[in-house]
Amino acid sequence: MPPTPAGRCVRTAVPWLEHLCDTGTNLLDSAPMTDDALSLLAAGAAEPGDLAVEGSLRPRTLGEYIGQREVKASLAVLLQAARGRGEAADHVLLYGPPGLGKTTLATIIARELGVNVRYTSGPAIERAGDLAAILTALDERDVLFIDEIHRLNRAVEEILYPAMEDFALDVMIGKGPSARSLRLSLKPFTAVGATTRAGRISGPLRDRFGMTYRLDFYGEDDLTAIVRRSAGILGVDVDAEAARLIAMRGRGTPRIVNRLLRRVRDHAEVHGDGTVHVGAVREAMAVLDIDDLGLDTTDRKLLAAIVQKFGSGPVGVQALAAVLAEEPDTIEDVYEPYLLRLGFLDRTPQGRIATEAARQHLAALGFDIPAPRRPEPDMPALWDDVPHR
Ligand SMILES: Nc1ncnc2c1ncn2[C@@H]1O[C@H](COP(=O)(O)OP(=O)(O)OP(=O)(O)O)[C@@H](O)[C@H]1O
Ligand SMILES: [Mg+2]
Repeated sequence: MPPTPAGRCVRTAVPWLEHLCDTGTNLLDSAPMTDDALSLLAAGAAEPGDLAVEGSLRPRTLGEYIGQREVKASLAVLLQAARGRGEAADHVLLYGPPGLGKTTLATIIARELGVNVRYTSGPAIERAGDLAAILTALDERDVLFIDEIHRLNRAVEEILYPAMEDFALDVMIGKGPSARSLRLSLKPFTAVGATTRAGRISGPLRDRFGMTYRLDFYGEDDLTAIVRRSAGILGVDVDAEAARLIAMRGRGTPRIVNRLLRRVRDHAEVHGDGTVHVGAVREAMAVLDIDDLGLDTTDRKLLAAIVQKFGSGPVGVQALAAVLAEEPDTIEDVYEPYLLRLGFLDRTPQGRIATEAARQHLAALGFDIPAPRRPEPDMPALWDDVPHR
């Protein structure tokens, strides 16, 4: 079995990772993503082929990791200090929408510390004993990466608290009145948690992370740099303007720009000489039905549903999910963050509201736009009659 770049193939409570160990696949290069891939733009990775390419495009060091400057600067200090002291680094919590580089950063953290990383995820650890087994198998200063950490169950979380705080494992021996608790010590390790839902992590768990980093959508320049780096690795000839055009349609998300690049490359190979230029990008986007802002059919359906069926809102996510035949979680995790960022959606206590900008975008694409059911709270009409003091 080939060793992982950090040293060895690590076994985990995740069945597909066990399978990779058994088949000798390099874990660090092929860790699949956890969210559902419902469309090209859904930020999760789709097929095994996709996963392999995604692995090859994953930056391996902080220096290769593009963008997120503040996060990188702070992490660099944290890691260098831990390395200098020869101690396990502080526990790190990473949160942000799918495809922004959380798993990549976890891998980088381990590599920069020169230790192994063990991957697992909230839903994969069903029983407290599963986590105990993982914790006791960690080597000194190893990184334990827990993806979707907001989905850990209560009993498992309670094992994690003393493990993170005191590197201790509390084991119950016996049952009934004679039961007693035994404290075993663990080797110091670094927990790296990742989540798309920081709000769903319990307070006590959040408090046990020494550092919390929020990954934000990437700007156009960073995404363009990511397209060019990926094109270099994949051996695709992309001109500067085409790289920028792909970046502008990438919804601020590295995973999506990488995927768009591969689809445009396919198009250029089939319909041209394989060179990715502006014409190839435009043609491929037209075929994929991705508009100039990077929105796909599902995004537009979501906005159109709010505008046409619910008078521009407010509407609850459950009702929207029913109309679109999607899971509420997929709407909240995959589609909404970028629409919020574009200013096309507002979240209010009453539900989602499609903004005037969203209505204008849909109108320009030829959608029927009925008048909003009620004016938006910040529309001047509301305030016209308010006397100024
Ligand atoms: N800063 C970056 N620079 C270059 N490429 C990046 C960067 N961040 C992410 N990528 C690319 O995007 C892909 C997806 O990143 P990653 O798997 O780390 O996202 P994630 O945040 O873990 O997503 P999820 O929430 O779905 O698990 C990676 O394979 C990598 O190629
Ligand atoms: Mg991930």
